[in-house]
Amino acid sequence: MMPAVQADTEETRYGAFWDARLMARFFGYAKPHRRWLLLAMLIPPIGALSQLAQPLVIQMAVDRHLVTGNMDGFGALLAMLAGLGLLQFVTGYLQSTINAMLGQRVISELRRELFAHLLTLDAAFFAKNPSGALTNRIANDAEAISQMVSAGLINLFGDILLLIAIAIGMVTLSPRLSLVVLLLMPVVIAVAFRVTQRMRMIQRHGTLLMARMTARLTEENEGRDVVRLFHQQKAATERFGALNREHRANADKSNLLEAFQFSFVETASTVVVAVLLWHGSGLMDDGTVTIGVLTAFIDAVRRLFFPIRDLAGKFTTMQSAMSALERVFALLDTRPAIGEAPVAPIPTLPNRPKGAIRLAGVTFAYGAETILSNLDLEIAPGERIAIVGPTGAGKSTLIKLINRTVEAQAGQVTIDGIPVEEIPLATLRQWAGVARQETFLFSGTIAENIGLFDTRIPRDRIARAAEESGAMAFIRLLPDGLDARLTERGNNLSAGQRQLLGMTRILALDPPILILDEATSSVDAVSERLIQAALERLMTGRTAVIIAHRLSTIRHVDRIIVLAKGRIIESGTHQELLAHGGLFAQLHALQFQDPSDAPDDPVA
Ligand SMILES: Nc1ncnc2c1ncn2[C@@H]1O[C@H](COP(=O)(O)OP(=O)(O)OP(=O)(O)O)[C@@H](O)[C@H]1O
Ligand SMILES: [Mg+2]
Repeated sequence: MMPAVQADTEETRYGAFWDARLMARFFGYAKPHRRWLLLAMLIPPIGALSQLAQPLVIQMAVDRHLVTGNMDGFGALLAMLAGLGLLQFVTGYLQSTINAMLGQRVISELRRELFAHLLTLDAAFFAKNPSGALTNRIANDAEAISQMVSAGLINLFGDILLLIAIAIGMVTLSPRLSLVVLLLMPVVIAVAFRVTQRMRMIQRHGTLLMARMTARLTEENEGRDVVRLFHQQKAATERFGALNREHRANADKSNLLEAFQFSFVETASTVVVAVLLWHGSGLMDDGTVTIGVLTAFIDAVRRLFFPIRDLAGKFTTMQSAMSALERVFALLDTRPAIGEAPVAPIPTLPNRPKGAIRLAGVTFAYGAETILSNLDLEIAPGERIAIVGPTGAGKSTLIKLINRTVEAQAGQVTIDGIPVEEIPLATLRQWAGVARQETFLFSGTIAENIGLFDTRIPRDRIARAAEESGAMAFIRLLPDGLDARLTERGNNLSAGQRQLLGMTRILALDPPILILDEATSSVDAVSERLIQAALERLMTGRTAVIIAHRLSTIRHVDRIIVLAKGRIIESGTHQELLAHGGLFAQLHALQFQDPSDAPDDPVA
């Protein structure tokens, strides 16, 4: 099992910049683009050679022509220098373009896979991993990995080649002067490395702070009604302000280091040039070094400093990519607790089952807490059954067993005699349609929300479903009817309208089994009557299992079972249970003491 991906616990330390196991797996993603990758790896040597040649040409131009005054072939050398400059430009340009393109290609595939994978995971996973952290994973880790391709991997290779090439050029020109550079360089590199690592660490922390701030914003935005209703704007602003201040302080630190880093490398290269000139003048006196060599050296030193400025940056890019890869692959390796059946699906699944549901000796526990114990329940095809009972009795848990949202530890759940574990999840979820208290609506049109963006569901079926549920009555009044756009979560609809759409969804999908969890508990009497009517139509021709807190909604079902402490303690029709005088009769009496809840046609 992977650790929870809390944004707050993310590493801000740096580890290895290369992990063969992770990189091997990563190259699997780059494989379809291997031609480009190969090309990208061929460019740096050419670039390095073009840079190595330039100081050598300068040396020749000075020593052979400017010093001697012999201008034969001087023009050709200048043309060559210009050509090398052009080559450097072309290789640099191609390199950046190809790297960036590769980075985007590889990462978009990884991002798609991550997203698709998240949709296969179940409640147990999301209980441990806050959605904010997961969003962060897809956005930030993917970005870190794409940075590795576009700015780390190949560039690091290129920079190291360049350093080697220039070093070779320098030694060829003058071993003595090279020694001077060799003595000074480690100091510059050490400082540049240290500062860059510190800066990147702070920047990385900044990303974390930004992720926390985004999570805070999202939550506050969703809870803004609560904040306004209780007039807690001040407290909310303060909570946000604290995070915001922390982020600013962090950014200040990193900006200071960045400014220092930039000027430091510039200054250091000038100092090295000064030392070279001072030492070189001595060497020129005894004839070990020519003026051309010294000039070429100044050019080479500048070229040497350029990659060094961001060499550490590239290492840290690789380091953050390694930890991002680690987390991303761990996420991809997480398997849902409830997966597809290990046994081969039985070949003769009915297209449309009759809808006989049976729970036999079912025991279910969340950890050590037993929720349902040795429960037996048989529901005939087309039967309408209601489950009532005190809160926490295990009603929702019971119906989750039917479509395998949870799995029993003991006993068996079957549909038409087929154990649910043997039914492919896609089929099972098609067979049993679930409506819940809260209908989640996406931003999009009403029609899209009814068909859940499945383009295979024809428009007229959606329209028919809306007529059938009675939702058409309010949809018709909207400016664009079925094409009216819903805002995020369907905030521009009432609670009752949202529930009607939830039921329309089920009608459009037309499952043989209907499962309903408290669909009427949060609406007023008028909406409730509308929903009650939709419910009647929904139950027609289907096996229906409904949980209702309002006992008035279930007066007409075939059978009511009363669940308490994970056991069925009463079972029978509305009349029978009232006559029995048990828990149901008590609940009923309690509920109808409140006159506003009285049933509209009194029970005989
Ligand atoms: N994901 C979970 N992890 C741990 N315990 C859970 C989880 N979901 C529910 N429970 C526990 O299981 C018990 C039964 O929950 P369930 O949702 O089935 O009750 P219910 O009968 O539907 O109640 P209500 O009428 O309030 O909806 C409760 O005690 C609850 O605390
Ligand atoms: Mg419940």
